[in-house]
Amino acid sequence: MNPYRTPLVAGNWKLNGSLAANAALLAEIVKGAPSFGRAQAAVCVPFPYLAQVQAALAATPIAWGAQNVSDQASGAFTGEVSCDMLREFGCRYVIVGHSERRAIYGEGDGAVAAKAKAAIAAGLCPIVCVGETLAERESGVTADVVRRQLAAVIDAVGAQGIAKSVIAYEPVWAIGTGKTATPDQAQEVHALIRTQVADADAGVARGVQVLYGGSVKAGNARDLFAQSDIDGGLIGGASLVAADFLAICAAAS
Ligand code: PGA
Repeated sequence: MNPYRTPLVAGNWKLNGSLAANAALLAEIVKGAPSFGRAQAAVCVPFPYLAQVQAALAATPIAWGAQNVSDQASGAFTGEVSCDMLREFGCRYVIVGHSERRAIYGEGDGAVAAKAKAAIAAGLCPIVCVGETLAERESGVTADVVRRQLAAVIDAVGAQGIAKSVIAYEPVWAIGTGKTATPDQAQEVHALIRTQVADADAGVARGVQVLYGGSVKAGNARDLFAQSDIDGGLIGGASLVAADFLAICAAAS
């Protein structure tokens, strides 16, 4: 954590939830919000629940967002959702380039960059995910992979676009596996990310929030967030359990 940057903890609900379960979870999060201190909290939910979270969170300090978006504004793109639609539901954030989108749905660096660009143009804050697979880490190309993924976005949106974005480092091998990067492993990549942004603009690099994601739990959040270039977390599984998510948000305070 760094005193210049506001900590952010964003829940990524993935393909989970129901109206009833969400209502209970959101009520608990709202109740716990006073313990977040200076940390900002957000939940990124499936599209059909945006109206529900907007209603439940509008009068609270908790922000919300989506998990994906189209780079297109409108037209014949069956099944897609536009940035302006997310704005209409009060979204502040949208996750782009999550490794599940990259691996399962074939989104490449160019597609991710286009989504980030569309999000920024619409006034949304993209949470741009980058991270290496286990095979990539073991073959020593972590820095190259992360640099390539981030460069595509920097090229598309420029340093001023990065200033309106959040970056999330999510090593693929740590997502949903219970294996977390050690604080040192995570810090090493976060520092590389910040250096890469600094090459484009030093001031933007000082301000941009870089989150860590990958099996963040109540028990390991504090050590991760203690690292100087880790500004919070992108939380999958633990964001579905109110007590766990609250503890992680409090750890970022
Ligand atoms: P996890 O997921 O916390 O369940 O590992 C993180 C993510 O995919 O954003």
